Amino acid sequence: MKKPLHPATIAAHAAGALDPQSGGVVPALQPSTTYLRDENYALVRPDNIYSRDNSDNMRQAEAVIRALENAQDTLLFPSGMAAIAAVFRALPNRATAIVQSGIYWGTTAWVRDFCARREITLIEVPAPDLVAICTAQPADLVLIETPSNPWLLTVDIAAVKAATKGVLLVDGTAATPVLTRALDHGADIVMHSATKAINGHSDVLAGVLSTVQSDSAVWQAIKADRKMAGAILGPFEAWLLTRAMRTLPLRVERMSENALALAQYLKAHAAVDDVYYPGLPHHSGHDVALRQMHGGFGSLLSVLVKGGRIDALRVTGKLNLFLRATSLGGVESLVEHRHTIEPHTGIPENLIRVSVGIEHIDDLIADWDQALA
Ligand SMILES: Cc1ncc(COP(=O)(O)O)c(C=O)c1O
Repeated sequence: MKKPLHPATIAAHAAGALDPQSGGVVPALQPSTTYLRDENYALVRPDNIYSRDNSDNMRQAEAVIRALENAQDTLLFPSGMAAIAAVFRALPNRATAIVQSGIYWGTTAWVRDFCARREITLIEVPAPDLVAICTAQPADLVLIETPSNPWLLTVDIAAVKAATKGVLLVDGTAATPVLTRALDHGADIVMHSATKAINGHSDVLAGVLSTVQSDSAVWQAIKADRKMAGAILGPFEAWLLTRAMRTLPLRVERMSENALALAQYLKAHAAVDDVYYPGLPHHSGHDVALRQMHGGFGSLLSVLVKGGRIDALRVTGKLNLFLRATSLGGVESLVEHRHTIEPHTGIPENLIRVSVGIEHIDDLIADWDQALA
């Protein structure tokens, strides 16, 4: 049997994408929305009809993620939210969904609205109670996010899978397919906002779903809905994504190293109350992270500075290298004062969410040093 390739090799070769027509070692960008038929009305390429169905560039990007996830099938969407919405839209009216609480606020807000409109019973459960509630309560769909954004809580995917008969959807955005292959741990469907580390250059909005059960009813429904309703990634975005993913394992490795070093520095700082990062032994998510994350703990952390809202905003205002902007997983470091964005969700006023990039760690620590001073 052929030995499977390592993620770094799959990514660097873009899962073998070339341009056979020109002989180029990178795939061509083909923006056409429609495809030719010959004089007998047969399609020149039977798999290319119209770009709302599919395109070569999208297939190339999907092939890379499919290989990295060890998946049977992968579907790209025009955003992470479009990918999550595609799974929920496959639920029948009056279904039951269990959703982890304290996850990315955009997901929570959309899921609440959608479930209310479709008379879906929505049960929101804190991360530590998921296994118990999933054991006691039958559900059609269970959505977990690990590590969670911005609390950095981790959830044992295998334990939740064992506790439910419902479809287990895992948002693995903060882990990336490099650090956690959620399908290997029992997820039925793994989702990522590819806008984050998968693209990693803050210039493509995309989302992705992968599964090991491509013949399941839910996957077939998702696939049909994407095609019919047109939630498709454009060829240029798909091409950019394929290009960016060549360095995904390399970027994730450096970002994780930087994030761990910064988390350790911040945890020891006199002006810091606490640091949430799954790589720190005191963090409640550490044990699960050790079992479930391989090669690092990701680029996302949250720091609670001493004081309140004003102090947190003063620190973010003093940072020079950490750009004040939402999002995460890019090569450039970002900070966000989450309370300003979601003041009603119980986010502490002194919490600063940090996405650590690939800059030199000494420069990153020096920036926090002067800001906290
Ligand atoms: C964990 C997580 N899931 C999903 C999303 C939504 O992704 P997108 O912004 O690509 O729609 C985000 C965006 O920040 C996120 O952080």
